[in-house]
Amino acid sequence: MKTCTTIAELRAEITAFKRVGKRVGFVPTMGALHEGHLSLARTLTEHSDVRVCSIFVNPTQFNDPKDYQAYIITLDNDKALLEREGVDILFAPSVAEVYPPGFQTSINVSEVSKPWEGALRPGHFAGVATVVTILFNAVTPDVAIFGEKDFQQLRLIEQMVRDLKMEIEILRGALVRDDDGLALSSRNARLSVEGRRDALSISRGLSAAQSALREGERNADTLEALVAREIEKVQGATIEYLAVVDEETLDKVATVVGKCRILVVVRIEGVRLLDNIALR
Ligand code: PAF
Repeated sequence: MKTCTTIAELRAEITAFKRVGKRVGFVPTMGALHEGHLSLARTLTEHSDVRVCSIFVNPTQFNDPKDYQAYIITLDNDKALLEREGVDILFAPSVAEVYPPGFQTSINVSEVSKPWEGALRPGHFAGVATVVTILFNAVTPDVAIFGEKDFQQLRLIEQMVRDLKMEIEILRGALVRDDDGLALSSRNARLSVEGRRDALSISRGLSAAQSALREGERNADTLEALVAREIEKVQGATIEYLAVVDEETLDKVATVVGKCRILVVVRIEGVRLLDNIALR
């Protein structure tokens, strides 16, 4: 695996591959890699000839500077994992490479950015959209993949690529769960043994709602209540939001019709845990 830290170096590598007709696939990450990220890289093997992964902890998407400072960095381990997956290029730029002095552009995907995460984390999605655009311009991928775990982020990228006519195919990577049902996240490492056990209430609640849907329940309030009932059994768990939404608009719906999803964020032991499930 070749590691590039500058855009010039990366472009030289990519140009050489493109010259011989290779299709470039891209997985953007902020490091602290786990099986969820690796499964994205694995999925890309069927869609590209060359796989590029980026590791860049993007300061502009942290609305709380303390979260940015506390972000776990495990670069050596991440590199070893990517080598093992057979990733061809790692792009790991510095903050100054991505945001040189004088940088002043921001991309705002207006509607998709408004609710849920956007409402609780002002500026977060502008930070994501801007850095992903910079990374896309640096990597020039033919195809890129984003996990369904951050479903609103995935929709934001799909919308941005469509609106700005970027010639990049966006793939959706399935959310990966641990054997016990917990959605994989770098944040899970911050939970105690008890916190982790309590966090299983989230996937239990989501599964209960999905089972109810499969038995014919289409009322969004009822489905949300099934999720809430599991989570509220846990002392100290706080639901930040819980909603049945339309997958395209992310608007809250009253009845499940067409493609809908339950989005939920729960805070346990101070750790924000995002999860979601497709209602099919
Ligand atoms: O999902 C992430 O890890 C980040 O938001 C992304 C897409 C790499 C942008 O910094």
